[in-house]
Amino acid sequence: MLIQWYPGHMHKASKEIKQTLHQIDVVIEVLDARIPFSSQNPMLATLRGDKPCIKILSKSDLADPEKTQQWQTYLEQEQGVKTLAVTAEHPDKIRQLADLCHKMLPDKALGGRLINALIVGIPNVGKSTLINILAGRMIAKTGNEPAITKMQQRIAIDNGIVLMDTPGVLWANVDNKNSGFRLATTGAIKDTAIDHEQIAYFAAEFLLQQYPEQVKARYQLQELPASEQALIAAIGKSRGCLKGGGHVDADRVSKILLAELRAGMIGRLTLETPAMMEEELVELAIIRAEKAAKKEAKKSTK
Ligand code: G4P
Repeated sequence: MLIQWYPGHMHKASKEIKQTLHQIDVVIEVLDARIPFSSQNPMLATLRGDKPCIKILSKSDLADPEKTQQWQTYLEQEQGVKTLAVTAEHPDKIRQLADLCHKMLPDKALGGRLINALIVGIPNVGKSTLINILAGRMIAKTGNEPAITKMQQRIAIDNGIVLMDTPGVLWANVDNKNSGFRLATTGAIKDTAIDHEQIAYFAAEFLLQQYPEQVKARYQLQELPASEQALIAAIGKSRGCLKGGGHVDADRVSKILLAELRAGMIGRLTLETPAMMEEELVELAIIRAEKAAKKEAKKSTK
């Protein structure tokens, strides 16, 4: 899937992070619990080095609880990484973040010194919602408009933690095709020229494979349709989305399916698992190696 990325923004964000890191005790990376792999920023692991890191799985009210647990176990295998699954519905759980920071940095906590935490996340992952809950007030979003120069925000939250939020946009995985589809399916990519139908067919295929019972229940289907096309057609018929000649209006159905999926109306869904991610990383490494080889071959023919 073609996604319009903005290298200028990406560069600005990584520069800001590099410049800030020496003041930082812990990095808080906000990930969407439905797509913890695809909502990662691929540069961050390198930028952060061995700084302690808390990976927040946000919007966990929309994600499959069993898979959220799988992700937490998987992500915590990495040295210096802890996780916290949260939702805006339970602010108390979000406030546990401060305790986790203290546990990860016992020396700072015992010495009564402030803990500086850098909070990062790709757009729409729920970072602002989280900051507002932690701060107990509305904090203006850091700008991502190229024309506006905004300062890094320092937000004091309870228990001696200072959150630093940097302007600039961190983008998600750019060269993994499935990640692009998953980001679009969850609504993380909003302002791209999205082909609703293409995304809805991707979502329909995923739902048939991973959550067949929820789909049947939501759209009151007696039988599970045999293909994504058949599912779109079945939803169209049950919702009366027909156009001239009694044909199903696939565009309307696509919008309905995506809106209902994003709002959690089909149930709590997670679009990727650690096992899927491992497989895709292998494929990605092959694609990257092929690209690099092609580039080399081109150079040597010049
Ligand atoms: P960002 O700063 O990372 O860009 O994300 P932001 O907090 O603005 O949240 C993006 C969208 O996700 C918002 O919805 C927000 O309401 C929703 N959201 C944030 N946290 C949670 C959560 O824990 N659960 C659920 N279900 N949704 C959450 P929106 O429709 O894009 O914006 P709005 O119409 O609410 O303004």
